[in-house]
Amino acid sequence: MKDRIIVALDTDSPEAAMEIVRSLSGEVGLFKVGMELFPRGGPDLVRRIRAEGYGVFLDLKFHDIPNTVAGAVRSAAALGVRFATVHASGGRAMLAAAAAAAAGTGTTILAVTVLTSLDDTDLSDVGFSLGAADAVLRLADLAAASGAGGIVCSAKEVASVRARLGKEVVLVTPGVRLPGGDMGDQKRVVTPSDAVRRGADFIVVGRPITQAADPAKAARDFSEAMRLGSAGGGGE
Ligand code: C5P
Repeated sequence: MKDRIIVALDTDSPEAAMEIVRSLSGEVGLFKVGMELFPRGGPDLVRRIRAEGYGVFLDLKFHDIPNTVAGAVRSAAALGVRFATVHASGGRAMLAAAAAAAAGTGTTILAVTVLTSLDDTDLSDVGFSLGAADAVLRLADLAAASGAGGIVCSAKEVASVRARLGKEVVLVTPGVRLPGGDMGDQKRVVTPSDAVRRGADFIVVGRPITQAADPAKAARDFSEAMRLGSAGGGGE
């Protein structure tokens, strides 16, 4: 199960990020490097994380014309990242270009559907006629049909996306907390066992692991809770 935990390195300091990486000593599978950290740590940081034996989830949410996104994906793949994100709303041709650029590399394209910071009114403001729940499924369908290997979906959406897209697609779910854990600014959370039971292949966890007194122990607790979920137990 530990290989299915992605720890979010939400810091602007490459050194602080590497400290977190080293504190986890093999207890998780991947680290997420996003748009706060990457402009400071760059490819060198990605290489350092990989050299410690972990996979990298490069969360830069590409959204541009197909030719540009294809180039961005080639650059990400050349760094050896396991996952790279694109916005599904970039459209069919952009998604297909991203998937084609990743084909034959070790990089899987994950599509982001509707940001959880947007509600139905926000979507209407930008001209979407569907509400958030329907837009998520519509964009997930489009992404999968265009060759994306996976979808990033919130705890709230993961079961419906799994039901819609079946087993082949990789589903990655943030907003996960241990029972009784501090929610931070997350409003809708699920437990690790629920996330797995609802269909998540990977969970993204930030502060509950990175800010724990003993991050390695916190990671083991998440891993154990996921194991209960996959065994059909857990009972939360
Ligand atoms: O610290 P925490 O566990 O809340 O961090 C979750 C990570 O997942 C952060 O990097 C956050 O940006 C990301 N994320 C999220 N909810 C989404 C998409 C991404 O929490 N819908």
